[in-house]
Amino acid sequence: MKLNRIGILTGGGDCPGLNAVIRSIAKPAMRHFNARVIGIIDGYEGMVEGKHRELTPLDVTGIINQGGTILGTSNKGDPFHFPMGDRNNVRIVDASQQVIDHYRDLKLDVLFTIGGDGTQIIAHKLSGMGLCVIGIPKTIDNDLEATDLTFGHDSARAVATEALDRLQTTASAHHRVIVLETMGRYAGWIALGAGVAGGSDIILIPEIPFSWDKVFETVLMRSRGAKFSIICVAEGAKPQGGDILVKEIDKKRTDPVRLGGIGELVAKRIEDETGVETRVTVLGHVQRGGSPTAFDRILATRFGAAALQAASAGEFDVMTSLQRNDVVTVPLKDAIGHQRLVPVDSQLVFVARAVGTCLGD
Ligand code: F6P
Repeated sequence: MKLNRIGILTGGGDCPGLNAVIRSIAKPAMRHFNARVIGIIDGYEGMVEGKHRELTPLDVTGIINQGGTILGTSNKGDPFHFPMGDRNNVRIVDASQQVIDHYRDLKLDVLFTIGGDGTQIIAHKLSGMGLCVIGIPKTIDNDLEATDLTFGHDSARAVATEALDRLQTTASAHHRVIVLETMGRYAGWIALGAGVAGGSDIILIPEIPFSWDKVFETVLMRSRGAKFSIICVAEGAKPQGGDILVKEIDKKRTDPVRLGGIGELVAKRIEDETGVETRVTVLGHVQRGGSPTAFDRILATRFGAAALQAASAGEFDVMTSLQRNDVVTVPLKDAIGHQRLVPVDSQLVFVARAVGTCLGD
């Protein structure tokens, strides 16, 4: 298929590797297809409001190692649930027709949607309305179905692992407990991966509701031996019989729920119940910023190249996917709808237990 004009958008929360994907679509599109590459500004918000700019070869040079996204992104731009008005008077409207109109005005042959589940759900709906769309799976959370991995996850996990390494030296020096709260929404991939890599003594993830008594027992036991404990807790972790902690509900967002606060709670309860001095670090957006790891740069580049190849073959309503180390395409509908959570019988859970890590159960 002839590709004359292609559009690229980055949607939802940013993560390391977005620029590497933009580059790996834009460079060959310009070089080999002689295509014009239109960057949509701030995700779907730009498709609704008509914000875009044509990318030049210079725009996509020297960006493979840059975090963030040169196009900007937004998690408040769902065209089917689009917030209008000011913060005191928010109206939610269906602005999807504006997206269709802008796609046609821009004379796009394909729109590449780089994002997580929210972005890909919207992409699939737009495809149902006649647009040619190809998704590329991004998220630090790694919670997207139909791919073994999303790009961005490895970088976030590396940052969280480094944080655990740093916390370990200070925890050990002061004979303290230190709790690190990671992101990840309802999935424990970041906390589990970093926790295993960083040798955490306790790892708490949403998929395994934890017992307070088990946590206190482990801390007390370690306070008599190693004299310090490192706890890696996912923001979505919850105690048995308890609820996930919600920090904020913002109905303008594609996902209105913002999680957070479990790290503080775990630290406070440990200090209250065991008497062991405890501190907490909430890693927050540090784990989303900065340069992608080499692994994420390569995965992002492979995804971008495969997406362009799919477009040239006229294959739409699909998403690139990593499957057993091969990059393939899968129907977008297979990637959305459920979140990919950590299987409680997975090998990583097994090895964490094998080396004596307490998973709170
Ligand atoms: O989905 C990525 C993510 O970083 C989650 O891990 C986290 O819960 C959320 O986004 C934070 O969103 P925001 O950047 O809007 O605070």
